[in-house]
Amino acid sequence: MRKLTDTVRFRHGATMTLRTAQAPMLTNSGVNEKVSEDTLKYYDARSQSAGMVIVEYTSVSPNGGPSRSWARNREQLAIYDDTFKPGLTKVAKALKKDGNKAILQLVHSGREAQFRHILGGRVEVPSNMKFSWIDYPLYELTEAEVWQIVNDFGAATKRAIDCGFDGVEIHGANHYLIQEFFSKFSNKRHDYWGGSFEKRMNFATEVTKEVLKVVKKFAPQDFIVGYRISPEEIHGDNVGYTWHESTKLVKHLTAGFDLDYIHISSLDYAAKPKDSNQPLVKLFKPSLGPETLLMIAGHIHTVQEMNDALQYVDIVSLGRATLIDPKIGYKLKHYLENEIQLSFNKESVAKSHLTPGLISLLPNVPAFAMPGIDYLKSLSSDQLTNEVTHI
Ligand SMILES: Cc1cc2nc3c(=O)[nH]c(=O)nc-3n(C[C@H](O)[C@H](O)[C@H](O)COP(=O)(O)O)c2cc1C
Repeated sequence: MRKLTDTVRFRHGATMTLRTAQAPMLTNSGVNEKVSEDTLKYYDARSQSAGMVIVEYTSVSPNGGPSRSWARNREQLAIYDDTFKPGLTKVAKALKKDGNKAILQLVHSGREAQFRHILGGRVEVPSNMKFSWIDYPLYELTEAEVWQIVNDFGAATKRAIDCGFDGVEIHGANHYLIQEFFSKFSNKRHDYWGGSFEKRMNFATEVTKEVLKVVKKFAPQDFIVGYRISPEEIHGDNVGYTWHESTKLVKHLTAGFDLDYIHISSLDYAAKPKDSNQPLVKLFKPSLGPETLLMIAGHIHTVQEMNDALQYVDIVSLGRATLIDPKIGYKLKHYLENEIQLSFNKESVAKSHLTPGLISLLPNVPAFAMPGIDYLKSLSSDQLTNEVTHI
């Protein structure tokens, strides 16, 4: 029986004394893609949020973000050149001050990099096609440009090591570029990067290979490398892939590379696919190499849900729960479960150190619904009039 307070050992030697992670979540706090004081305050307050905190999706290439800008002057973070390192170094240091592991999520946002278009740049995709929900121009990458992005993931990994992160997570989920290459709905290419199931795996494979090559060369031996995946891409008749294909990708990646963990991105940890009585997470387990740990996020909010999810995975990943209560890790470690805050209210918001950008964003996105959201709504109007400062 796994317990939340067990020590977890990753295959390269890193350990943590809880089976929980804080899921990556945009803080809507970057200023010119750089860490701001808002970003820093938020992460500083989360140094006891979980065994490991996975910092939000951070773009590896100049056109890898920013994705949709939810609020004026607040953007996705980036790490595509050295000027981003001082701010991110402060984030890593703040997160690690109480023994937490700090992991940086690396992304190219692909067709979701809408704000890059507003800034005058181009939005890059595997195949230039019509998407009913996209009203901005898309740019189809050449074969060589895709290789450049592979290199960008490597260079970003080197910077994350320099900044003092304990690991990186490759963002292969949530419809960003890596998933777009894997999806037969979005990838219509006929070159090295597409045309068959095997070739649609090539971008994920080459990015993983490059990240691990850089890690072996420059990182401490116990540096952690994870890979995040959405278990299925099914939207009505548009099918990018099913779990039958995503488990093959996971099998291929964990057989070929010594990944520390696979992180399933889901809205419900117990969700089942259409054609099986088993939860998706259970169907994934046999495809993992023996030394790679499994993690899942998706409506794991209460201690009961954490314990229930632990029957399937090595680590439970908590998203919105840690927005409400940034001290969940501390409370689990010290057996103070009853003190975990489960709803936004005057008291919990005073302690949650949310960024003004998150306070504006959360009440306006139905998918982010959470207890006490109306209280947050009542605060949101004035939040963005504050000045923000670069770190
Ligand atoms: C405000 C917010 C921002 C998010 N940003 C990211 C992100 O940067 N990267 C990512 O992989 N997932 C992101 N997600 C998804 C979460 O990591 C998580 O998978 C999802 O919230 C489900 O977990 P939960 O029910 O515990 O919140 C975000 C979710 C929320 C609520």
